Amino acid sequence: MQIRTIGILGGTGFVGRTLANRLIQDGYRLRVLTRNREAHRENLILLPGLDLVQTNIHNPELLAHHLSGCDAVINLVGILNERGRNGAGFRAAHVELVRNLITACREKAIRRVMQMSALGADAAGPSHYLRTKGEAEDLLHGATDLLVTSYRPSVIFGAGDSFFNRFAGLLRFAPVFPLACANARFAPVFVEDVAEAMARTLRDPDYFGKRLQLCGPSVYTLEQLVRYTAGCTGLRRIIVPLPDLLSRIQAALLDFWPFGAFIGKPFSTDNYLSTKVDSICTGNDFDALGIRPTALEAVVPSYLSHTGTRARYYRYRSHTGQ
Ligand SMILES: NC(=O)c1ccc[n+]([C@@H]2O[C@H](COP(=O)([O-])OP(=O)(O)OC[C@H]3O[C@@H](n4cnc5c(N)ncnc54)[C@H](OP(=O)(O)O)[C@@H]3O)[C@@H](O)[C@H]2O)c1
Repeated sequence: MQIRTIGILGGTGFVGRTLANRLIQDGYRLRVLTRNREAHRENLILLPGLDLVQTNIHNPELLAHHLSGCDAVINLVGILNERGRNGAGFRAAHVELVRNLITACREKAIRRVMQMSALGADAAGPSHYLRTKGEAEDLLHGATDLLVTSYRPSVIFGAGDSFFNRFAGLLRFAPVFPLACANARFAPVFVEDVAEAMARTLRDPDYFGKRLQLCGPSVYTLEQLVRYTAGCTGLRRIIVPLPDLLSRIQAALLDFWPFGAFIGKPFSTDNYLSTKVDSICTGNDFDALGIRPTALEAVVPSYLSHTGTRARYYRYRSHTGQ
């Protein structure tokens, strides 16, 4: 299959920046569509062969227009929280966008589509996030004239991630840290491994129609991950796992977090409901791809804050591979 130019939606974010770097290495031309070119130009504009185009991807005509001439499309758009609480924001960002994307691909004769989904995505899932991610996947895989691969990672780590960095930021302000959903399980996966999996499967017909599960090498509870984060940052914190009812109450209170429009919500009822499904793989597709997933201990200490002796100890261990 001949692929030269790839259109990317959501390509300015954490995963998108790593993926763009990886695909440029393979010689592809990239057209990244963004809502705000100025906000992202410093991160991406210097990559050779990358065009950063400002547009409204929710407008079907503009979407089709800007994908014209692309040989493949990668959709990385995803939100963890919405402004309201009725699911309309999730539906617009995940489902309606994909519906328009399918129409645009047909109009512009683009057959190859790669969809970034998430472990646990399921049209019958417990949260708006998982349901709408699942519906989007199903819509794409139901479009049998397209060659679709969906990628279902656990939580993704790497410099600039929103998981470890977010917890590190929260821990800084809270000597006693009440932790909701402490027993939820994750298999954190390195952003460069995810990008590598996408690059390797881009043109491989064996992966058309597949939904790939992508997990790191180990499973942790949220409590273990937050304690590890505190260790990496050198902060001595008292972490208090909350029982289920208090987790739910904390989430309901934070639904009304007043700064959500600016810095996002630290936690929400929808996040709480998403943790009802463990974010772990039943079979890890990295194995078949010949990719050995990177352990978080080898990477995370290098980008969390460098303070205190404990942080230096964790950094030393990550360098020595212990
Ligand atoms: N990070 C993780 O741990 C993780 C785990 C599992 C799955 N995923 C999935 O992986 C994908 C990429 O994640 P990420 O961490 O790179 O996310 P991110 O950093 O938040 O980037 C997502 C990008 O999507 C665009 N976007 C966000 N909301 C949008 C909206 N309402 N309408 C149109 N565009 C919108 C933004 O681009 P512009 O601002 O340029 O328009 C943004 O740069 C998402 O689909 C996410 O659900 C992520």
